Amino acid sequence: MRHVSPAMSDATTPATAAPAPVSMDNLVALAKRRGFIFQSSEIYGGFNGFFDYGPLGAELKKNIRDCWWADMVQRRDDVVGIETSIIMHPKVWEASGHVAGFSDPLVDCKVSKQRYRADQLFFSPVVITGADGVAQTVGYVSALESENTAGELQTAAESFKRKKAIQGTLSPVVAKDLTEAREEEIALIPSPATGEPGSLTAPRAFNMMFQTNVGAMTDGSSVAYLRPETAQGMFVDFKNVVDTGRVKLPFGIAQIGKSFRNEITPRNFIFRSREFEQMEMEYFIHEDADWSKVHEEWIAWCEAWLKSIGLPDSHLSRYAHPKQKLAFYSRGTVDIMFKYPFGVQELWGIAARGSYDLTQHANASGKPQEVFDEATKKKFVPHVIEPAVGVDRIFLAVLCAGYAEEAVTDEKGNTETRTVLRLSPRIAPVKVAVLPLLKNKEVLVARAQALYKKLQRRYAVFYDETAAIGRRYRRQDEIGTPWCVTIDFDTIEKPGDTFTLRDRDTMQQRRVTEAELFALLEEQVY
Ligand code: GAP
Repeated sequence: MRHVSPAMSDATTPATAAPAPVSMDNLVALAKRRGFIFQSSEIYGGFNGFFDYGPLGAELKKNIRDCWWADMVQRRDDVVGIETSIIMHPKVWEASGHVAGFSDPLVDCKVSKQRYRADQLFFSPVVITGADGVAQTVGYVSALESENTAGELQTAAESFKRKKAIQGTLSPVVAKDLTEAREEEIALIPSPATGEPGSLTAPRAFNMMFQTNVGAMTDGSSVAYLRPETAQGMFVDFKNVVDTGRVKLPFGIAQIGKSFRNEITPRNFIFRSREFEQMEMEYFIHEDADWSKVHEEWIAWCEAWLKSIGLPDSHLSRYAHPKQKLAFYSRGTVDIMFKYPFGVQELWGIAARGSYDLTQHANASGKPQEVFDEATKKKFVPHVIEPAVGVDRIFLAVLCAGYAEEAVTDEKGNTETRTVLRLSPRIAPVKVAVLPLLKNKEVLVARAQALYKKLQRRYAVFYDETAAIGRRYRRQDEIGTPWCVTIDFDTIEKPGDTFTLRDRDTMQQRRVTEAELFALLEEQVY
């Protein structure tokens, strides 16, 4: 009998050249092709700002949630988890300040009917110095926020000067966003939609909460809101948890759930959407505690957690909000930023919110939100540190960080391109693919099926007996499966009952026993 070694069928050497930058188009195409993410209501043309997660996406998303819950709640003695309702009493949102102030600055283009977020629409005066040495503003240019906003404004200014045939030296552009525009400037700034000035409105506050009506009446008395954050659930239930949960300061209350924001400009795939999922934790501390120390500890915890699910250090950075831009109650906010293909953007916000939220709810409800300090025999309102992150943003970050198209060379010297998703085994949607070398050899199939069924009790595994082994490996590379196990003739004929274990990243193969395979999974999938 001629035995085909699976090693012969797989390209073996990943190229060492630096990986090409990830293209969002390719990533979105992979997400669709392999069933990670679809547009919501796609058969009706899609629905802007809403997405569906397909079979692999749902699995990956669940793994992100499960890892966070395990590390944030189950493996800590000082954090408990809750699940609160999405629609809460409307007074919650009045007390929290969302009804009055949860808004983005909106600008309309009266001609095109396009709407923009004023803080994402940039402009600059076009300033030209003539032969007489006098600098004059001769017009305005605008550009939507991008990786290279200043560059785009500069190009637009040069084109403006050329088209108007204005002589003189062009000054470098000074980019400002539309919230900084003076009233008399608004009429002179061109709309990005039409390229012409005169159609943009002055920015106005646009409340991002989705309204609904609860009950049979649809008048003002029945107005309620879909929650724009999960956090308020933790504040409103603070006393319930204290009274029932045997918790003592410092402690945290965590929750994972959907939030809804009527974003003016949902964009960058799932980065900013109108329905998304948050994982938030409110960490309550003594009013006299060193909040900045606790704040720093949580920032470090969040960074370490992101690395534990596979995000590389090189893509992470911190952004401390300038003091003058903080909300009046906030003592400090640091965002963990991620280098997405479309720029460095907020991934996880860690805010020190003082006692603002509990105090607001105490005042609005008339129910004190205090705890008793045994040492001082005094009651006080705890302060809070809040790490708040979006599941979908983490999802996008792990796809971006893991995606690679690389040249691989087999032992015959043939080179091909493979697409690979380097997802951490912790979150990969499929942990192991079980592949009988040949589908028409009953002994191989039977052994593969037995292993598959055993693995399936504990892990998400995939069984595939179709196509050549090399193609099967490629399919698994593309969906981020860390290991493939091939049941070949050595498994059946040689002592030891070993399989070929093929590593997604190195493409190296080695023989392992069932016990070794389970030990590897036990160590890496936690
Ligand atoms: N409770 C505080 C809070 O909600 P936030 O900065 O507005 O703070 C926290 O949101 C996190 O939720 C963000 O860092 C981001 O990861 C995620 N997030 C916010 N808006 C989002 C949107 N429209 N789409 C996807 N994720 C979003």
